[in-house]
Amino acid sequence: MNTSKLSKGGDPTPASAWSLSLQNNYGTPPIELVRGKGARVWDSEGKKYLDFLAGIATNILGHAHPAITEAVSAQVATLGHISNLYMSPQVIELAQKLQDLTGDPTARVFFCNSGAEANEAAIKLSRLTGRRRIVSTTGSFHGRTSGSLSVTGQEAKRAPFSPLLSDISFVPYGDVKALKKRVTRKTAMVIIEPIQGENGVVTPPAGYLAAVRKICDATGALFVIDAVQTGMGRTGEWFGFEHEGVTPDVITLAKGLGAGLPLGAMITLGAKAPQFEPGQHGSTFGGNPIACAAANAAIDYLVVHDLLRTVKRSGAQLVEAIEQLPGVHTVRGRGLLLGIVLTTPVAARVSAQCMTNGLLVNSPNPHVIRIAPPLNITKKEIELFVKIFSQSLTEVLEEQDA
Ligand SMILES: Cc1ncc(COP(=O)(O)O)c(C=O)c1O
Repeated sequence: MNTSKLSKGGDPTPASAWSLSLQNNYGTPPIELVRGKGARVWDSEGKKYLDFLAGIATNILGHAHPAITEAVSAQVATLGHISNLYMSPQVIELAQKLQDLTGDPTARVFFCNSGAEANEAAIKLSRLTGRRRIVSTTGSFHGRTSGSLSVTGQEAKRAPFSPLLSDISFVPYGDVKALKKRVTRKTAMVIIEPIQGENGVVTPPAGYLAAVRKICDATGALFVIDAVQTGMGRTGEWFGFEHEGVTPDVITLAKGLGAGLPLGAMITLGAKAPQFEPGQHGSTFGGNPIACAAANAAIDYLVVHDLLRTVKRSGAQLVEAIEQLPGVHTVRGRGLLLGIVLTTPVAARVSAQCMTNGLLVNSPNPHVIRIAPPLNITKKEIELFVKIFSQSLTEVLEEQDA
């Protein structure tokens, strides 16, 4: 390799270097982050931010948490990646932990690297039922790979890449009647998010997941719950569907599972879901021991520190404070996955103003600010969030009125 061709840096700004060397699918982000500690991150110009997005709901213990850095450092110094041609204790430990968390000793886990891959695995698995049809919901988000995009209920994201998988239909989220009409004995699977995170933290009416369960039972369709965004304690339960007391046939996980490292999982529960036979599916990096070591450490930490309770308490503290603010219509979501619905469609400007004022949040749509801080966020950090958010919102609303 001609190493003289390797760039030695020296580009005028990170933004120009980014735009001249990366695909433009994310546009050029406004800041470059270089360091993090807990819920704080610093950019390359030394500015500090309160991170209330946590890598889009991934860093469940924040940045550089000692439990994660110790587990990852020890693992990478002991055994790196080995593929699935061999077993590793970390993979077995994590599969057993997930089995325990589901409460189902018959649960079986497939590890991958992302949410899209977890949903791909579920789609492929559903074909083993001998059925082809899939029912999903409008507004849903299940990933960007061809299969996961096929079941994503956002036409704008799908359109440039059509034709995608066939035999997929979409019904309005939360609408039991529409689902009942669409799901038949030919339906292989129904895929549902407990909360539509990417769609603006949309919560379905109470009883929805229980009704989906009934419809799947009556037709033999697999009930797949995409808990990629709502899993691993984010909503105050281990998995976002537990609030409704239902059990799906398949759970997909990613995001918080690796506590900041890339890791996804598809878990079958009970006897209804088919099982992959040797050779039917796989992933070179799936179940990487380093990512699994991080996940094991994060689960242990959540258990020992009773963080699910903290999540519920912190979520309630946030909702109570945010609901008071002028310019806020409602707050929806659960635990520490919250959507702040604004009275006017200025969410993108509010998000930008928060960044200027040292706070990271995002705006999945013009009316909604999403927050998904680390699960161990402190009371003081919540107070700081409320202060910066309320100031930023006021500034945007005043500017609008001026
Ligand atoms: C519910 C849900 N499913 C799937 C995905 C896709 O996950 P990934 O980006 O890891 O492929 C996401 C990502 O936002 C998600 O929120």
